[in-house]
Amino acid sequence: MSKITGDALNVGLLKRVFQYVKPYRSIFIWSVILTILLALIAPVRPFLIKYTLDNYILKGQHSGLVMMTLLMLFLLVVQSVIQYSHTLLTNTLGQSAIRDLRINVFNHITKLRLQYFDKTPIGQLITRTVSDLETISDIFSEGLIVIIGDILQVIAIIAVMFYADWELTVVVLLPMPLLIMATSVFQKSIKSAFQEIRTEVSNLNTYLQEHITGISIIQYFAREDQEFRKFKKINARYRDANIRSNWYYSIFFPVVEIISAMSLGLLVWYGSRSILSKPLDVTPGTIAEFILYIGMLFRPIRELADKFNTLQMGMVGAERVFKVLDTKELTTNSGTYQPEKMAGNISFDKVWFAYNDENYVLKDLTFEVKAGQTVAMVGATGAGKSSTINILNRFYAIQKGEIKVDGVSIDDYELSYLRNNIATVLQDVFLFSDTIFNNITLNNPKITMDEVVDAAQKVGAHDFIERLPGGYQYNVMERGATLSAGQAQLISFIRALVYNPSILVLDEATSSVDTETEMLIQTAIDKLMKGRTSIVIAHRLSTIQKADQIIVLDKGEIKEIGNHQELLKLDGYYKKLYDLQFHSVGIVAN
Ligand SMILES: Nc1ncnc2c1ncn2[C@@H]1O[C@H](COP(=O)(O)OP(=O)(O)OP(=O)(O)O)[C@@H](O)[C@H]1O
Ligand SMILES: [Mg+2]
Repeated sequence: MSKITGDALNVGLLKRVFQYVKPYRSIFIWSVILTILLALIAPVRPFLIKYTLDNYILKGQHSGLVMMTLLMLFLLVVQSVIQYSHTLLTNTLGQSAIRDLRINVFNHITKLRLQYFDKTPIGQLITRTVSDLETISDIFSEGLIVIIGDILQVIAIIAVMFYADWELTVVVLLPMPLLIMATSVFQKSIKSAFQEIRTEVSNLNTYLQEHITGISIIQYFAREDQEFRKFKKINARYRDANIRSNWYYSIFFPVVEIISAMSLGLLVWYGSRSILSKPLDVTPGTIAEFILYIGMLFRPIRELADKFNTLQMGMVGAERVFKVLDTKELTTNSGTYQPEKMAGNISFDKVWFAYNDENYVLKDLTFEVKAGQTVAMVGATGAGKSSTINILNRFYAIQKGEIKVDGVSIDDYELSYLRNNIATVLQDVFLFSDTIFNNITLNNPKITMDEVVDAAQKVGAHDFIERLPGGYQYNVMERGATLSAGQAQLISFIRALVYNPSILVLDEATSSVDTETEMLIQTAIDKLMKGRTSIVIAHRLSTIQKADQIIVLDKGEIKEIGNHQELLKLDGYYKKLYDLQFHSVGIVAN
């Protein structure tokens, strides 16, 4: 992976960006044609003015003046129309290209392994898909095409100037090296300022995203002031980076004005001398023409530095976005096995698993669950219960051993088949800001309203959903904030049920709910587990007692295995846990 350099001359990168223009080739070609036209039309008007001044105004020929005025008016209209179409086309091109790119990026992000998200801040990914991508669109609308146009215009104007009067042109262009030097210094300084701005935008987004998501914690612990101070620091850094970039502009623009004034001064000095000594060589018309040309010459040169930076920022953005696209941390999906029906026999055979390197959180796990049976997993917090279910549906890859479903390694199953047949209800329920119905079906068009209502009735949630304004169309706000924890839990049960999985994995929520909801959830869990293989990370004694098998996990190892009665008789780890957890009132270990 190449490092982020933001080098505008990185041809490979530019080529890659232009891959996204391919579908819009005709728009691109038209943009370039219009760019060339605009560059060539620009020098015509000053020339017409010179011609009018010398041949009609100074000689008092009114008919010619009217004709030339009309011609110039016409030219102005043509130029405006071209300019309008040009802006429209280049913007359409840029926005269309980044729309496609954004789809690619989002699609890629949704396929990345969870491990990637463990170490990548969400705010950073949001910056990549929104503002970094926006800078790429500027490559087209304000960057590359406009740069080409400006350079063409400068060349065309200098050529016409030389044609009109080469001596005068040389004199007028004398301050040019100064301008080039100033531009180069400006360009280098502003580049670093821009890069700083991009980094601070990303920091700001990450900070905001995390702190707005975690706002309740901040408020519970009354940390507003401290967090506010931290935010102020990041915000100030962002402001400073912006001010720094503006400072460079505020220096550079007047410098260009001074240099352009020097050119004008030289023009007046040399031109008037020339008119006085050799009256026919430099005409007043030529002087007027050159005054306009100097204006036209310095504007694009001044803006070139700016445009070049836009281009560079686009390249920096492109490099960052492509870096996400190039992240190969995908869950491998080379399996093809998709039987008609998954029976649901699960076996773990000497499974070792670590999130990072050799730091094993699961050690030598071996157990078996027969189809239709229920296994309850118990153990202290951090024992590895959630990790065990995370590897079953291949959220994370194991290092050693083998996990099989119906005698076939989970790696050999087609990934979406495997995941569709293993429904996972997580400890914390996540709801999207969408309707209840969409939260249940996850926009799967194959699931009908009838199926949803049926599932809701089974888990006993139909009544409460019906009572909501709009029923199944009720919009749960961001992350289900408008539902109670118990209600959200029930929604997640319906979600699992409509997918009619062969295997159910349930990470029982530990949040306490009112007795009525507790009863609802109890019945719902029973309904959910009926007729399928279930692995339940259990915190409720009732769930544990009913299980066919209980696995006691401690620091990633299986300590004891058996049913409730057997384990109590063992008088070992489970007995201790049982006494601690269920007999001393008030202590509910996680
Ligand atoms: N995404 C992750 N990246 C790295 N380490 C992790 C990750 N998730 C969990 N761990 C570590 O793995 C170990 C087991 O965690 P796990 O979530 O499986 O525990 P648990 O038994 O489910 O606990 P709890 O009852 O609190 O939910 C812990 O030491 C934890 O720090
Ligand atoms: Mg857990």
